[in-house]
Amino acid sequence: MNQELILKQAIKDNRATLSNPDSIYKSMLEFQQLLMLYDAGIKQITTKFDILKEEFNTKNLRNPIEAIHSRIKDPMSIIEKLTRKGLSISYKNIVSNLTDVAGVRVVCPFISDVYHVAKMISEQDDVSVITVKDYIKNPKQNGYRSLHLIVNVDVYLSEQKHIIPVEIQVRTIAMDFWASLEHQLHYKKDFKMPENVDSELKSCADIIAQTDKRMQELAKNLPNFKDYSQDLGE
Ligand code: GTP
Ligand code: MG
Repeated sequence: MNQELILKQAIKDNRATLSNPDSIYKSMLEFQQLLMLYDAGIKQITTKFDILKEEFNTKNLRNPIEAIHSRIKDPMSIIEKLTRKGLSISYKNIVSNLTDVAGVRVVCPFISDVYHVAKMISEQDDVSVITVKDYIKNPKQNGYRSLHLIVNVDVYLSEQKHIIPVEIQVRTIAMDFWASLEHQLHYKKDFKMPENVDSELKSCADIIAQTDKRMQELAKNLPNFKDYSQDLGE
């Protein structure tokens, strides 16, 4: 949606707040504190993945974790998503309707590693899995593949505990390559792409998926290689 329209909607939804300087300031502080909580959720989860990565390194084992990235959803995307869902722009609606303000992405060498990583994080006592979307077993129509988990993690402040949802995307290097390039090709809507861009992207996704499978077949020859692909309850 057009950014200007979205901002106008946000201003309309918050007219009462914006008409009073004290309440503008109060809302800003509240929003800052909310983002701090999501940032803390990201830190909790990335630390867990960092620790696992270090464990495999120090044991001199093949590492199922190639890279760990994280991001906090930017305010404009938060507003855009609430508007898309037909919700007004408010603190309450962010907390009760968005589960992807905190996002962590783990990139793995092989398909089996994706499920291994998901299993290791899901089994931790202080992580509770809320939803699993397996876009590897059930790819999106456009060819997108990835394993998505929404987990809750505790964040302790000086006086209370908060339960923070974090979206974890786990995918192979090949899936990540496709998703990054597809995102770039679709991000800017203001220039014309060839008409077959979608079918080209789908076809590339399928070739990449085939390659991932062939690479995994080779990996099965590695000592101690275990196939975790069937391990995640659906
Ligand atoms: P969003 O509103 O986009 O967050 O989608 P959703 O709430 O329906 O959840 P879904 O699990 O489908 O997607 C969550 C996230 O996965 C997105 O924000 C993207 O980061 C990623 N994603 C999903 N589909 C695609 C896709 O087709 N291409 C790319 N590049 N990324 C995708
Ligand atoms: Mg999202």
